[in-house]
Amino acid sequence: MKLSDYAKHLLLSPNLEDKLISPLKVWEEEIELVPIRMEKPVREDRLSFSDKKVKIPRLEHLNQTSAKGLTLHHFANHELMAIELFAWAILAFPDAPIHVKYGFIKTIEEEQSHLKLYIKRMSDFGIGFGDIPLNYIFWKQIPKLQSLEEFTAVLSISFEGANLDYSQVYAKAFHHFGDFETAEIMMRIFEDEIKHVKRGMRVFQNGIPEGKSDWDYYLSLIQFPFTPRRAKGYYFIPETRRMAGMSESFIQSLGDYTDEYTSRVNHRILERFSLDETVWKKSDLPKTHLSG
Ligand SMILES: [Fe+2]
Ligand SMILES: [Fe+2]
Repeated sequence: MKLSDYAKHLLLSPNLEDKLISPLKVWEEEIELVPIRMEKPVREDRLSFSDKKVKIPRLEHLNQTSAKGLTLHHFANHELMAIELFAWAILAFPDAPIHVKYGFIKTIEEEQSHLKLYIKRMSDFGIGFGDIPLNYIFWKQIPKLQSLEEFTAVLSISFEGANLDYSQVYAKAFHHFGDFETAEIMMRIFEDEIKHVKRGMRVFQNGIPEGKSDWDYYLSLIQFPFTPRRAKGYYFIPETRRMAGMSESFIQSLGDYTDEYTSRVNHRILERFSLDETVWKKSDLPKTHLSG
């Protein structure tokens, strides 16, 4: 099988089980390098794109089973889109260096494991994947992405970057409410997402033109109304970006960035969940609390 066949399989198979089939270890060589830009993935009905707005539950409601299930459903949707979009990139940018394409495959495999973890855990909370409408926010960015570097700026540096903040925040919030199993899942995902952002950073850093700062280069790759705000969670944890290989000046610019849509940090929430800039690692989860 060729990488492009596998990518087509992920995008064109409607069933979830097929989108979760792991990649091979060895691939046949690609002969034709024709870019294919799929507009949207094929999906079974229960997973189809929806324009209905479903809000993610508030952190302070994560003591409730239904809010926990809904939250994980939200994250599971991001994972499904990530699987499809890295497959999309393999097809859209066939002349990307082979190590970059293998990196995408590794990322896909990890996103598949994240999706499985979320699906299993949300079923403990009585929610099945597709029970709630699925938005397609990542897919909406796709028509604008013309190069591998633009793809990386939006998918890896921005969306996966923001997920570094969110996975920390939610690990802490689930932990706060005594749900150590879900907190562990969030930590495992955090550690994989660091690798994903790092992979993106390598593509990004290779593309920086001489004399241009990494921040200016990033700004040149994204298009309004997409702004650097999308590269942060509502609570920014700079150390996570150091772990992913971003430069100090880039982290500083990202931290300082605000626009009219930037939401104010709710200090009451930060205090309640002891949210600060400390980065938890899986091995740091307070041992006494680890569930069996
Ligand atoms: Fe993921
Ligand atoms: Fe990822």
